[in-house]
Amino acid sequence: MKFFLDTANIEEIREGVSWGAVDGITTNPTLISKELKGEMNFRKLVTSILDLVKGPVSLEVTSLKHDEMIEEAKRLKKLGDNVVVKIPTTVEGLKALKILKEIGIETNATLVFSLSQALMVVKAGATYVSPFVGRLDDIGEDGMSLIEDIRTAYDNYGINAKIIVASIRHPVHVRESALIGADIVTMPFDVFKKLMSHPKTDEGLKRFLDDWDKIDRGKLRLE
Ligand code: G3P
Repeated sequence: MKFFLDTANIEEIREGVSWGAVDGITTNPTLISKELKGEMNFRKLVTSILDLVKGPVSLEVTSLKHDEMIEEAKRLKKLGDNVVVKIPTTVEGLKALKILKEIGIETNATLVFSLSQALMVVKAGATYVSPFVGRLDDIGEDGMSLIEDIRTAYDNYGINAKIIVASIRHPVHVRESALIGADIVTMPFDVFKKLMSHPKTDEGLKRFLDDWDKIDRGKLRLE
């Protein structure tokens, strides 16, 4: 399973990439808007992200009409070969997905909340599909059961669009995604950090080092 960071924050991306565990990035207009402070503009921000990340970087269109989405997608794609264009799961979005597939631009269908939407967007040609698990949990539904349904349906029909589990809130979402067989999880940096933390690791390391400190230094010479 690939790990993407769901952020447009350069420090988080730089740190995550240095850990060797970031396979790609997803952004959305909300995440981008948080980073455009002071001198920062969209082009500068995206260029910095693309300099740091070799894997797919999702950038979202903000047009609502399919022809405008397509023009926007072409402009975004010019920023880098690894740009994937995020398209909203609407009827206009379907029309855009179809044409973008025909002209060879990779897409990520975003704001997917049902199996029927997940089937429609792949029929139209989406490369990646992003069901939002946390936002389903927020309204009392079971986000992870949607991932199970999509995985089963795609496997039933040999659909090879990649499932990106999005709107991840905690490491349990990541664990369950791996057990279900999702292709990718995209998570905030906070969740990514939690994947590495365990109190028994900290406690164990402290005990090892405390015991090491008790040894006479002379006994530890290597030469
Ligand atoms: O980027 C799409 C998705 O991951 C957003 O998550 O936390 O705003 O529901 P969230």
